[in-house]
Amino acid sequence: MAKYQVSDLIREAMEAREGAYAPYSGFKVGAALLADGKIYRGCNIENASYGASNCAERTAAFAAIAAGAGHFQAIAIIGGREERAENYAWPCGICRQVLSEFAEEEMQVIAAKDESDYQMVSLRRLLPHSFSLDIL
Ligand code: THU
Repeated sequence: MAKYQVSDLIREAMEAREGAYAPYSGFKVGAALLADGKIYRGCNIENASYGASNCAERTAAFAAIAAGAGHFQAIAIIGGREERAENYAWPCGICRQVLSEFAEEEMQVIAAKDESDYQMVSLRRLLPHSFSLDIL
């Protein structure tokens, strides 16, 4: 993760979470994605038409791609109903698939409760045998 520490990424995810728009679930999520050496933030954005909602991880992924950063190195995620996250919020299946499209070999996923309480695993471990461009 070179010049960024895990704690930097988690702090960014906590700040990103402040932008969450989650009036339906009340579950606010923030994500900070390290891509091509820069951090891109995302939050969940819900909609009155529930299916139109977007997860924090995909918001961050799409921001990175739109900015031309297509090599994902790590993502930190923090979410929950309370001010302080009570559980680790691992990315949903759709987000794992979206991340895998742009993930570097050893991309790490960090699920955090706060800066010093987190778990980190590779995306490959969270999504083995992902569907990819190689077989199309
Ligand atoms: N959510 C995320 O932002 N990321 C995930 O990986 C799972 C769920 C959001 C979607 C919805 O706004 C809320 O959390 C409850 O599902």
